[in-house]
Amino acid sequence: MAEFSEISKKEIEEILNHYPTKQAALLPVLWVAQEQFGWISEGVMDLVAQTLDISPAHVYGVVTFYTMYYRKPVGRCHIQVCRTLPCALMGAESILEHLEKKLGIKEGETTPDGQFTLSTVECLASCGTAPMLRLNEEYRENLTPEKIDQLLAALK
Ligand code: FES
Repeated sequence: MAEFSEISKKEIEEILNHYPTKQAALLPVLWVAQEQFGWISEGVMDLVAQTLDISPAHVYGVVTFYTMYYRKPVGRCHIQVCRTLPCALMGAESILEHLEKKLGIKEGETTPDGQFTLSTVECLASCGTAPMLRLNEEYRENLTPEKIDQLLAALK
């Protein structure tokens, strides 16, 4: 079974100091888990459930609800294209198609070298700069196919 590192244990201890119940700390503890393991496997969900004294089913429900928790390994560059209405109206679909063509993968896939994972997500609260995507923790906005080409060239 998966185990938290000493660093993660300390972070979780600190998080728990700020919440009235262990269950209330589920979202930040899942972040700690994802940071350590890179994604949230069923084994990691069990570990989180055990750590917080809650049911694995509850953890599973939360992990599967939020797209920011990864349920399979992702590449070193995780590209998440927003496709909610404002971004869709501004061309998110053609941005996605351009990325699929350039990377040679479809949405939900990772390149064989593990460099890129391409996903779609709901609104990332940056509608005023649509179309946009998130690259790991950074936003890339007002996208055009040319900007995508520049971005990919810088990442390869
Ligand atoms: S719709 Fe894309 S950021 Fe809001």
